This record gives sequence, C-alpha cells and structure tokens, in this order.
Amino acid sequence: QQETPKKTKFGPLADQDRIFTNLYGRHDWRLKGALKRGDWFKTKEILDKGVEWILNEIKVSGLRGRGGAGFPTGMKWSFMNKPSDGRPKYLVVNADEGEPGTCKDREIMRNDPHKLIEGCLVAGRAMGARAAYIYIRGEFYNESSNLQVAINEAYAAGLIGRNACGSGYDFDVFVMRGAGAYICGEETALIESIEGKQGKPRLKPPFPADVGVFGCPTTVANVETVAVAPTICRRGGTWFLSFGRERNSGTKLFNISGHVNNPCTVEEEMSIPLKELIERHAGGVRGGWDNLLCVIPGGSSTPLIPRHVCDTVLMDFDALVQAQTGLGTAALIVMDKSTDVIRAIARLMEFYKHESCGQCTPCREGVDWMNKMMWRFVKGDAQAAEIDMIWEISKQIEGHTICALGDGAAWPVQGLIRHFRPIMESRIADFKQKQQAHA
Ligand code: NAI
Ligand code: SF4
Repeated sequence: QQETPKKTKFGPLADQDRIFTNLYGRHDWRLKGALKRGDWFKTKEILDKGVEWILNEIKVSGLRGRGGAGFPTGMKWSFMNKPSDGRPKYLVVNADEGEPGTCKDREIMRNDPHKLIEGCLVAGRAMGARAAYIYIRGEFYNESSNLQVAINEAYAAGLIGRNACGSGYDFDVFVMRGAGAYICGEETALIESIEGKQGKPRLKPPFPADVGVFGCPTTVANVETVAVAPTICRRGGTWFLSFGRERNSGTKLFNISGHVNNPCTVEEEMSIPLKELIERHAGGVRGGWDNLLCVIPGGSSTPLIPRHVCDTVLMDFDALVQAQTGLGTAALIVMDKSTDVIRAIARLMEFYKHESCGQCTPCREGVDWMNKMMWRFVKGDAQAAEIDMIWEISKQIEGHTICALGDGAAWPVQGLIRHFRPIMESRIADFKQKQQAHA
C-alpha cells in the first residue's frame, strides 16, 4: 500500500517523514532500538517482491546518489541487471567520507547502523549482489565498531547471511577499514584498496558495473543512498518523490558547520532554501545574516557562493548548478565577515595538494602550483596578472584528469576569483604599498 504524499514545499520536514529518526543519537542504536524505530520491518516482503519491483520503486522515487555526484540511483543499480558470465556481483558501500565539512554518513553509522545494513540487503537484492563490502574511513573507529556489532546482531537474528530474513537469498556484509587517504573515497581507488593495492583511481570506462572489485560487476554507492532504500520501498517511491522539486526529490541530510551558532547535521526536505536551513537548524549566522560573507554549499569541492546568492538559492542539485556551484555532499561551510576568504581557499589547496595521488600531470603539478600561488595571494605577494594565470591553470586541470579530485581542487579557486577578485586585487595592492613604504 503506497502512502499518500504530504507536500511540505520546502521544509520543515515533519517528524514522521524523517528517515533517520535516530540521527541525533536520542535512542539505542542496537538491534532492539532499531526494530522499535521500524527498521527490518517486513524486509522479507520487500525482498520477495523481487529485483524489478525494488528497482522500480527506487526509479519512481527519483533518488539521486548522495555521495556528491547525484547520478540517478535506479539507473545506476539497473546497470547490474545483466548477465555476468558467472562472476559474482558485489555492492560496495562508500563510507570513506573524507570531503572536508562532511560528516553525514558518520552520523548514520554512529546512530543508525541497522538502517545501512538493511539498506545493503535491499540494494544488494536489487542488483543480484552476493555480498556487500562497507569501506569505512579509517578515522571512523567507533563507527566501524558500531557497524560490526550491528552486523553481528543481524547475522545472529538471521536478517543477513544464508537465507537472509527467510527470503531464500544469501547475502553477506563485510566491513573494511581504510587508512586515511582521501583519494580512497573515489570509487575506483576504493576498489583498488579493497583488492589490497595502492588507492589510485582507474580510468573509466570500464565503469565498476562492468569491471569492479576483483574484476566482478560492482556498484559503489554512498552510505546515505543505500540507507534510505528500505524506507523508500516501505513507504513507496511516490512518497519520497513528493519532497523537493522535480529531478531533486526526497529528504536529505545536511551538515552545517563554520560560523553558525549551532553547527549540526539535520535531515530536511531537498530544495529547502539555504537561508532557511541555516536559520532554522543552525541558529543562524554568528552575528546575524548580515554578517555572512559566503558559504561553501556542498563540501570543499564545491565553489563558494557569496551572500547575495545565499539569500535566495535552494539547496538542491539543479539550483546550485545554476548558481555555478553544486550540492556535492550537502555539507555547508559558513563563513562570516571575519573570514580571510583567500586564506580559507589556500588552506583547501594545501589539502588537495597533499591528497593528490600524483598519477596525472595536471593534478599533480597544477594543484601544487595553485597551492603555492594561493599562499602568495594570502600575503598579497603576487602580480595582479597572476589572478588570470591561476584561473587558467584551474581550467587546464578541470576535466583533464583521471578522477574528480582535480576538478575538486580547481573549482574552489574558480569560486574565489568569480566572487572575490576585488579582495585579491586589493591584497596585492596593499602588499605593494607596504613594500614601497619600506623601500
Ligand atoms: P561520477 O559522475 O564520475 O560518477 C557518479 C557515479 O555514476 C559513479 O558511481 C559512476 O560509476 C556512475 N556512472 C556514471 N556514468 C556512468 C555510466 N555511463 N555507466 C555506468 N556508471 C556510470 O562522479 P564521482 O567521481 O563518482 O563523484 C564525484 C563527486 O564526489 C564530486 O562531485 C564530489 O562532490 C563527491 N565527493 C564526495 C566525497 C565524500 O566524502 N562523500 C569526497 C570527495 C568527493
Ligand atoms: Fe590522482 Fe589527481 Fe589524477 Fe585523481 S586527478 S588520479 S588524484 S593525480
């Protein structure tokens, strides 16, 4: 029985429409608590409905990947629905959450691990997978331990393993811990790492759906994407579709950090206005909305947007692309007027330079150049013409690398120049003036 959609347009999300009801750690995360909150409810019935039914619900829901890229989930999972020449199929859950500003998946694994495990089973069934590997960021020690406890509980209760939930379907779940490399969150580097190799991205195609972990068909999916699947199946794809806007549906976890009064992780309706999200849940910008300088809306790889854009922009894939940025991981980093925005972006360049795997020249060399130049811009020790030069370098990196890390490093610099060029120019002019005064 499908639920009748309740339109909220856009937020606040009613309590009964929150998927992650234990997000704030109010209750027991163990199996007993999870069962009380409705996890594992009639999971066998979902599995019995079969591959096509599950895929259809996910497609109807309009769910798009929650890891950052926003690829349509139903379509991605259906790529697995073809002959595999006898090779087993795998689901890999990307829990290597390393994007600066982002900690939404950590909250799920910390407080709602059973939602993720049930999600693995439902998603795994939809793609005919034999097992799921949850690849978790090495620093998430407590979360990986919670997950393992929850997995053990699920095995003991017959929910996963042989004849999972009494459905006749065999499905195992394994946890693998990373070792602190940001690049291992890139799906093909993650696959290499699971195979015991150095985490270096592979060229795509072939996509993992054709050649994935151990050469077998694989889907790599984000924690949040997988964890919402059982609820979508239980409440119906149209229920999920009723939130947000066309092509941008559902509920969504948002992280809000930086210069706000109450940094938090919150589940809200997709497409909620950015301003409302910050004011309703994070207690507003420190010193009031007028004190806002800019926001990085979707984790460090998305270009910042200045206050006048923040006034009206909606938090969804399409609205943020239109604003020349992106939803990314939906992790907002709020900066007030006390921020040295040039230094903030320089610090990000330092991060990307450190995390580049070094395989491709534009990323290895270009990000290093950008990093060195950005620290000179922080002092003002540069020529004004170098602003165009670093823009050009970022354009030469963008789209010319094996993986998205190069793009992720280029975009923050582009955002800075697009919106704060006058600040960069005046820093250079001030530096020159001081030098002349000392001469
Ligand atoms: P992508 O656009 O290359 O791929 C998205 C997904 O769709 C992948 O799983 C890919 O295999 C699949 N796909 C795309 N085209 C396909 C095709 N033709 N056939 C089969 N499968 C296809 O993006 P990518 O590199 O996976 O992710 C980049 C994003 O990740 C960035 O935008 C960034 O926001 C985000 N990110 C998230 C982090 C986190 O901690 N969650 C860390 C760093 C980046
Ligand atoms: Fe490695 Fe950077 Fe190339 Fe990605 S873009 S493969 S991180 S060098």
